[in-house]
Amino acid sequence: MADAAEQIFASVRNAAQRGAPLYLQLKKSIEDAVHAGIIGPGDALPSERDIALKADVSRVTVRKAVQDLVRGGILVQRHGSGTFVAPRVERVEQSLSLLTSFTEDMARRGMTVRSTWLDRGIYPPSPDEMMVLGLSSKEFVARVSRLRIANDTPLAIERASLSATALPDPAAVGSSLYAALEKTGNRPVRAVQRISAANLGEADARLLDVPAGSASLNIERISYLASGKVIEFTRSIYRGDAYDFVAELRLSGRADNAGAAA
Ligand code: GLP
Repeated sequence: MADAAEQIFASVRNAAQRGAPLYLQLKKSIEDAVHAGIIGPGDALPSERDIALKADVSRVTVRKAVQDLVRGGILVQRHGSGTFVAPRVERVEQSLSLLTSFTEDMARRGMTVRSTWLDRGIYPPSPDEMMVLGLSSKEFVARVSRLRIANDTPLAIERASLSATALPDPAAVGSSLYAALEKTGNRPVRAVQRISAANLGEADARLLDVPAGSASLNIERISYLASGKVIEFTRSIYRGDAYDFVAELRLSGRADNAGAAA
């Protein structure tokens, strides 16, 4: 990094007279260095003081440039250990017409999946869960909440609710909820999804390893068994910088289904 730092910050020192605010010049030179691969994911930036010296700008200018880059997801700051180039996130393209599980989606792309458990247990249902899952206040709900991680990048937070009759032991769910449901003949065959844009709050942003306020896609999936009974009500929060949802559209009235589903 020492040579790279010299190169990046010297360019600011030399260009400093050319009009644009200094923090923007510094920000651009760091951004350019990341895009050109001069510094890569995980590389540590020199300290604020060092950058100020090398670029011949004030520490306030450095702080402003770095804060902007953290907000933009180019850099990450870790308490106590400094500022780093953010890990590169491979965007995942997700078809909207296939009822697949997270594990299957990632496996198809050759990505390794793991999950961190945020919660799993049997609870009295919330009003929302009672309405969607058709439960009475005397029945129970099984909750399975996970941070879903692909190739070591946290991609989504998924909070699934099912009737406790369908999933009496949430602790027995292994790496895939749908695989567990499949075993008991409860794997959904149809689902309706609602997708909306949002900005991440502090806690969810921390889990997804992005700055608070970053863009996210919130998805509510209600899944059905072949009998028409609702089996799953899942609220998911996907990182906006990591997911593209792709929908195939057809002219209405054409019965031609050849080659459907991307
Ligand atoms: C997707 C859906 C969830 C579903 C999950 C199951 O990500 N958005 O509604 O619960 O897949 O995935 P898995 O079987 O890997 O646990």
